[in-house]
Amino acid sequence: MSIERINLGRSDLMVSRIGLGTWQASYKQWGEDVQDLKIIDAIKKSIELGINLIDTAELYGNGHSEKVIGSAIKGMNREEVVIASKVYGAHLRYDELLKSAEMSMNRLGVKYLDLYQIHWPDPWEQIPLKETMKAMEKLYVEGKIRAIGVSNFAVRDMEEAASHLSKGFIASNQVRYNMLQREVEEEVLPYCKRNSITVMAWSPLAQGALTGKYSQTNVPKDTIRSDNKLFKKENLERIQKLLNVMSSLAKAYKKNIAQVALNWLLKDRIVVPIPGAKTPKQAESNAMSCDWSLNAGDLKLIAEVLAGIDLDYM
Ligand SMILES: NC(=O)c1ccc[n+]([C@@H]2O[C@H](COP(=O)([O-])OP(=O)(O)OC[C@H]3O[C@@H](n4cnc5c(N)ncnc54)[C@H](OP(=O)(O)O)[C@@H]3O)[C@@H](O)[C@H]2O)c1
Repeated sequence: MSIERINLGRSDLMVSRIGLGTWQASYKQWGEDVQDLKIIDAIKKSIELGINLIDTAELYGNGHSEKVIGSAIKGMNREEVVIASKVYGAHLRYDELLKSAEMSMNRLGVKYLDLYQIHWPDPWEQIPLKETMKAMEKLYVEGKIRAIGVSNFAVRDMEEAASHLSKGFIASNQVRYNMLQREVEEEVLPYCKRNSITVMAWSPLAQGALTGKYSQTNVPKDTIRSDNKLFKKENLERIQKLLNVMSSLAKAYKKNIAQVALNWLLKDRIVVPIPGAKTPKQAESNAMSCDWSLNAGDLKLIAEVLAGIDLDYM
């Protein structure tokens, strides 16, 4: 199996059709079963299978995720991986951003980052976006980052960010996108399509809710997902019908439910899902999500079921 590569936005970076998220490498926040060595193997397995896009952030495990990636890629040809890290929302001042980038590179053991993303727009709205973008531009011009990205940016944020760049451009916007959480379809996705900005889909498996392994009697117990309203018993009951349809599609294609969830996102060529994996087995399953396609009838069936699902976020 060879995994297709596409350009990341208008950049010359070629990324696999599916990436790998590594928020999971944050000690036990994602559950007692998290083990660095297994995540290192998951990263190696992904690369072996042709996944080259690895997403991380200085925030994940307070830098631990970047260190885990650094261990996994040590000794590899640097060109084999596209490393995407993010600057934390509290480090958006010019000098702080430059320092954050250096520290990320040190933890990763690399001399440049392929993609550097602003994790969230400044939550306190204190720092002019122009100041942040000028720091990004400096890194880009100096070759310390190969592409500039943003994350969780609305259309107005992307427009403003782009207006402050005279040398680079926004290559990607990383946003939450999965079958159950489709807010980006309204404005962000159409804007990104029009402007050739890659949409990196975070939580593409709805943090596991779209894998079929959780139910009203089996909910994840880790700190991250205990706050996720998708895992409320009422919601798990409401999505059961969708999971049943996904399960029959999975059977027909000899795939599994998680692979159906990821493949559904590939219907738009601008979307690159970045599922997080804790084990090589999960990484392998996720990598095998892009060597086939749901057909128009399958997509219509899924759309009909989704139209009947109303989730409770209270
Ligand atoms: N930019 C942002 O603000 C932002 C926010 C969130 C995430 N992200 C990025 O996006 C990545 C992915 O999002 P996410 O971690 O929120 O959620 P996700 O990818 O939707 O779900 C990941 C979880 O699903 C389960 N899983 C993964 N592959 C599986 C498989 N093949 N079969 C069964 N279960 C599987 C694993 O947990 P269990 O095995 O414990 O169920 C895993 O921890 C993150 O790692 C991070 O890089 C970015």
